[in-house]
Amino acid sequence: AAAEKGGHEFFMDKEIQEQPQAVEDTLRGHFDGTRIVLDEQRLGEDELRTIDKVFVVACGSSYHSGLVAKYAIEHWTRLPVEVELASEFRYRDPVLDRDTLVVAITQSGETADVLEAVRHARRQRARVLAVCNTNGSQIPRESDAVVYTHAGPEVGVASTKCFLAQITANLLVGLALAQARGTKYADEVAREYEALLEMPAAVAETLTLMDPVRQLGRDIADSKAVLFLGRHVGFPVALEGALKLKELAYMHAEGFAAGELKHGPIALVEDGLPVVVVTPSPKSQPLLHSKLLSNIREIQARGARTIVIGEEGDETIAPFADTLIELPRVPALLQPLVATVPLQILAAEIARTRGYDIDKPRNLAKSVTVE
Ligand code: G6P
Repeated sequence: AAAEKGGHEFFMDKEIQEQPQAVEDTLRGHFDGTRIVLDEQRLGEDELRTIDKVFVVACGSSYHSGLVAKYAIEHWTRLPVEVELASEFRYRDPVLDRDTLVVAITQSGETADVLEAVRHARRQRARVLAVCNTNGSQIPRESDAVVYTHAGPEVGVASTKCFLAQITANLLVGLALAQARGTKYADEVAREYEALLEMPAAVAETLTLMDPVRQLGRDIADSKAVLFLGRHVGFPVALEGALKLKELAYMHAEGFAAGELKHGPIALVEDGLPVVVVTPSPKSQPLLHSKLLSNIREIQARGARTIVIGEEGDETIAPFADTLIELPRVPALLQPLVATVPLQILAAEIARTRGYDIDKPRNLAKSVTVE
């Protein structure tokens, strides 16, 4: 078993380290020199061109990967994108027709709520595209098109490398839609794809910067709760960080949009409460960055223990960070691919310090095949 884990204590540790490879393998073969190509494309470009609305449906971490992608897909395609929990979508009579694209994101390809959402969408004649890590599983079989994530088998119940691979695949779907619709020129699509090709190295670099995160995990392992804040693509990253902590460490954790702080969450802040803040690049998102900076000051003034995740070389955040975690500089829309990594490691380290099995958290299953 130790050999299977490649010398790591848990599969999850190994899977976290495999993330650069997962992103690289998911990108491979999806650009032919001029155009983005999807897998098992039973949906032609003509059909993609007439799409006028996108729903993303998923559960758990897969849902968070969809929230991340919404920012890029709307920006690139000018299509409205709604991201919805599969269990809610199915039962609220969503407005669908043949020009609606439903993107079903599922690592296992067999989550019951996602499968039912896909069936419901197809009955309404919507087109369905699956983003899936399991070849030939049920949901891809029932979909019109598929993009496979090539993360390899994930053993840890809490998703890590599949999550990064899903974000990557979702972005490929966004680029394929942009190219079909002509909302991006071919050279722009090629440049976005090239930027994605830089991400495996950025994730690998991030992994080398994680010792302070492990130390932090040991330091805050006794906390009652941890809050996570972010804006823009940092918001779904905050949600995913909180989910990881709940799943692995059984700790109360909440992710919030930092702009909502004054509408409730700030009342939770008390002396010593760890608050993790995902901060955008001051260079590429100066306005958002300044908003986050004032959020960090607000919570620090109320006694929070500030844990700031930000871009390397960002000197403005350092004075307000009790712990500073640096990330390599990457394009704004791609930051979740690096920013999620410290949150995974933080949750794993807290759980490990508390003596829990991080591969098999209590009460959870790797795939949920009942509604
Ligand atoms: C379970 C797993 C999660 C996963 C979710 C969705 O809750 O523990 O890690 O994100 O199911 O699974 P799927 O296979 O549809 O991505």
